[in-house]
Amino acid sequence: MLRYLTAGESHGKYLSGILDGFPAGVKITPAYIAAQLRRRRQAPGRGARQARETDEFEIISGLNGGATTGAPISLLIRNAGRDLPPPSSLPRPGHADLPGMLKYGLLNAALIRERASARETAARVALGSFALRLHELLGIHINSRVVSLGNMRPLTAQTAAAGLLLARRAGDTLGGVFEVTAENLPAGLGGFSQGDRRLGARLGAALMGINGVKGFEVGGGFSLAAAGGIEASKDPGLSGGLDGGMTNGRALTLRCAVKPVPGLPGGAPSVDLKTFRRRLSVSKTSDTTAVFAAAVVGEHAAALELAGALLEKFGGDSFSELERRVSDWRGRTGKILKRL
Ligand SMILES: Cc1cc2nc3c(=O)[nH]c(=O)nc-3n(C[C@H](O)[C@H](O)[C@H](O)COP(=O)(O)O)c2cc1C
Repeated sequence: MLRYLTAGESHGKYLSGILDGFPAGVKITPAYIAAQLRRRRQAPGRGARQARETDEFEIISGLNGGATTGAPISLLIRNAGRDLPPPSSLPRPGHADLPGMLKYGLLNAALIRERASARETAARVALGSFALRLHELLGIHINSRVVSLGNMRPLTAQTAAAGLLLARRAGDTLGGVFEVTAENLPAGLGGFSQGDRRLGARLGAALMGINGVKGFEVGGGFSLAAAGGIEASKDPGLSGGLDGGMTNGRALTLRCAVKPVPGLPGGAPSVDLKTFRRRLSVSKTSDTTAVFAAAVVGEHAAALELAGALLEKFGGDSFSELERRVSDWRGRTGKILKRL
């Protein structure tokens, strides 16, 4: 069983992460993990804070001589932004602040923000790097891309940059849609015997668990609701690589809708919970969009979930054991899939 946990706060000393149940013998370098963290940190649309963060990290356990040992992998990521924001009884609309303050009986929104912040996703990316590397070594290609930014679609680097500049100048923020794809996954990952074994449910939980994600679809997703059965049957790709909760040997396609960043430089109306006076909640350092960074996080969250499903199907305490089993399975199922 592959499982992981993160801890740490936005302005604490470190973020931390533990990945348990990962096989031995997976070769990975610090440079590989650093490159993944950089992709998240330097994604387009990010705000002032990212210029200060370096995501300097340390692997505490589970790695020896450039390969995993099978022991729990634990790591620390240093926070550069350590100036704890002053106490505030003004919840930021669209954030965890208000429900979090009510839930924990706290009048200080800063205490909620510290953990609810998407800074935590750096730890998910660092842990996800191990899963991504495992897939790579098995010839499974997991990628992500942003499909739309606000209502801009199709998107090029130039139109995205122009859209972000316009939004920033207008004091506005943007949402968007990102896509995660996985190619060359063995067929039969996941299961149909219980709802929570269905791979779509598991991937949905992993991706909906990313801050700001408000929609999730597999393959044709919401557009399938309007399609006729005859039309849908002509394109097996519309299943998005999953049938009956299992991988079907085709490319996996997942899409997520990310809401516009709620922190606005010009402020959003809120109510101070101490005085009950109406005030503006102003966010000066917010990202203009989170969709590009969220795509990177989504890729890693999906990689972790898919690595868990792989290990459930094939087991294997070492990479060589896992690789042999996957290769044998591919050989046997490949003969059938090729003839369809
Ligand atoms: C990588 C990433 C960066 C984000 N940056 C910001 C930000 O700078 N400002 C902000 O207001 N929200 C930001 N968000 C979005 C909030 O974290 C999110 O809207 C908030 O947690 C509430 O969303 P929820 O209702 O989906 O949980 C970011 C999200 C992600 C994934």
